[in-house]
Amino acid sequence: MTSVSDIPATDAEPTPTPVPELHGLRTWVTGAGRGLGRAIAADLSRAGALVALTARSADTLADAADECGDGAFAVPGSVSDERDLARMSDTITERWGGLDALVHLAGISPVFHPADRLDARTWREIVEVNLTGTFLTCQAAAALMDGPGAIVTTSSVHAHTGAARLAAYSATKGAVESLTRALALDWAGRGIRVNCLAPGYFATDMTEDLRHSPRQNERLLARIPQGRMGSPEQIVDVVRLLVGPGGSYITGSVISVDGGWAAA
Ligand SMILES: NC(=O)c1ccc[n+]([C@@H]2O[C@H](COP(=O)([O-])OP(=O)(O)OC[C@H]3O[C@@H](n4cnc5c(N)ncnc54)[C@H](OP(=O)(O)O)[C@@H]3O)[C@@H](O)[C@H]2O)c1
Repeated sequence: MTSVSDIPATDAEPTPTPVPELHGLRTWVTGAGRGLGRAIAADLSRAGALVALTARSADTLADAADECGDGAFAVPGSVSDERDLARMSDTITERWGGLDALVHLAGISPVFHPADRLDARTWREIVEVNLTGTFLTCQAAAALMDGPGAIVTTSSVHAHTGAARLAAYSATKGAVESLTRALALDWAGRGIRVNCLAPGYFATDMTEDLRHSPRQNERLLARIPQGRMGSPEQIVDVVRLLVGPGGSYITGSVISVDGGWAAA
């Protein structure tokens, strides 16, 4: 019979619990109530980041924050309202004392109108949210960064290829890419990297009408080399790269995640 003293001693250390990739990264995600922003906020939380979620609709945002778990909190407000942004900044400062990363998804595409039927009020609203909102949010985030940081903005395939009936949306997304490059240069000396995601078509609320129109959906899928829309889970790895250590030498870049649209 084997006694305890016969069992050879082992000097193997207990296996340490792996530290999550983005452990403790203080990250602000805008447009986090639904769609791409919500999927990204949840993924960053799983990777160990602390996440502040913002969007206008308080209820949806609270659900999204619950989904992210303990390290997350929600601050409702609009990215184009400077008082809301000040409130978001104050809350982040109170909670964390600073910020390491911004992932800015908030954006709108409320109409499909030929340019001659696009009224000035709608044009201004789209510019205000998609472009001015991006600038103001990046500025607010950079002011909270007390060391190196990462900012991710969001454009669209329609920054690169024309889209009929989307003049205002396309113009703002082209401008977001130019803005991203300018911010990357302004803040490189502070160690803040600024990059832009250029998504193709993803299955979110923003594309719901298109997906439910069989004719438009068919035409759209025929235009995408991979023949399908993306799902929000297919963008999260790129965001993790851009905000994490793997992206340390990437700044001023636009990264297409579009099933091949920009290449065609
Ligand atoms: N889905 C696509 O196919 C696609 C393609 C190319 C680019 N993009 C871009 O990717 C980003 C996310 O798109 P998505 O498909 O996830 O859109 P979505 O499902 O419509 O979600 C947009 C998010 O932005 C928030 N938001 C809108 N206006 C806001 C404002 N003024 N202030 C603060 N938050 C605001 C919305 O919440 P509230 O309404 O509650 O504020 C929501 O959480 C957008 O910038 C979009 O232009 C999307």
